[in-house]
Amino acid sequence: MSDDRLIVFDTTLRDGEQSPGCSMTLEEKVRIAKMLEKMRVDVIEAGFPAASPGDFASVQAVAKAVQGSTICGLARAMERDIERVAEAIKPAASGRIHTFLATSPIHMRDKLRMEPDQVVEQAVKAVKYARQFTDNVEFSPEDAGRSEFDFLCRVIEKVIDAGATTINIPDTVGYTIPFQFGDLIARLIDNIPNSDKAVFSVHCHNDLGLAVSNSLAAVLSGARQVECTINGLGERAGNAALEEVVMAVRTRNDVFNCDTNIDSTLIVPTSRLVSSVTGFMVQPNKAIVGANAFAHESGIHQDGVLKSRETYEIMRAQDVGWSDNKIVLGKHSGRNALKSRLSELGIDVESEAELNEIFARFKDLADLKHEVFDEDLRVIANESQLEPDQ
Ligand code: KIV
Ligand code: ZN
Repeated sequence: MSDDRLIVFDTTLRDGEQSPGCSMTLEEKVRIAKMLEKMRVDVIEAGFPAASPGDFASVQAVAKAVQGSTICGLARAMERDIERVAEAIKPAASGRIHTFLATSPIHMRDKLRMEPDQVVEQAVKAVKYARQFTDNVEFSPEDAGRSEFDFLCRVIEKVIDAGATTINIPDTVGYTIPFQFGDLIARLIDNIPNSDKAVFSVHCHNDLGLAVSNSLAAVLSGARQVECTINGLGERAGNAALEEVVMAVRTRNDVFNCDTNIDSTLIVPTSRLVSSVTGFMVQPNKAIVGANAFAHESGIHQDGVLKSRETYEIMRAQDVGWSDNKIVLGKHSGRNALKSRLSELGIDVESEAELNEIFARFKDLADLKHEVFDEDLRVIANESQLEPDQ
């Protein structure tokens, strides 16, 4: 494993909460934040204090309850927002102010109604103001994925000079594609003269289903912070999923040459907690945390895994917090998997003929339902043993 550290910035409590229908109470946010701390997330973005008194109180409560992670609050590039974050994160052992301002032509023209020069000026002013409260300041040029390269370089160079220590490049609308986004990060790092004075971070949305791929392309280009959420929650189609980014860099360390400090065995429990708090179900085939992520149904796969797990598993289920992988007995399962499950259940099969009998009954039942459970097998075995000649 390489020692090169990738910083994990979790924004489940801020961007994740922006998923329509996903708001959380203060107590729920503190519970999730404590779990993220236990998982060794480096930075927890706990909310947007200027958004509401409730959001302010939640960020403050998280800052009081969590001492092992840096607690961050989001602020528009405005003095009042920055003051609210500074106040909310005061109790934190380590705090960060994250301020943002849009830099794409469409946002500057249609949303901000500002000229590019005014945007540069306001971004610099906001960063300088934030530095009066903390030396840990992150700046995001919102909609960087659709911003003009030269202008982006200009803004970033100036905010680094003004004291920004992390530069986060958001693909706010999930518009970029991996080779393009990776190339953008590499060119920014190469072209901005003071780029070595800040950590480059990425924040990718999933509108085209590319948030994780884009984040990973950026890591290959030198980004050393990834912003992500548990289960990929977030505005519209969501953000990059923490569990996927973390396990991709760990499993393919040979490619990424960096790793996070995350205790991956807490990934599944954290995913479950976030799902139960928000009521957002995790789809069964979701990578890493879906119920089927380590389940095998086909006979060929089951046979392979029973002989050697590495035939069809690239990670250990236990390493991400499952108790074990799962052999699901269904109509595609073979004799080997059935025999192994019968033995686990302590059912003695005395002869090949008896196994054939149980197998035939098992297949008949499997055609009628999605999964054959252990209770079904006990009944089948019992019946086969009672009626050996059938
Ligand atoms: O998607 C985005 O651009 C954001 C910023 C505030 C970082 O969430
Ligand atoms: Zn976002």
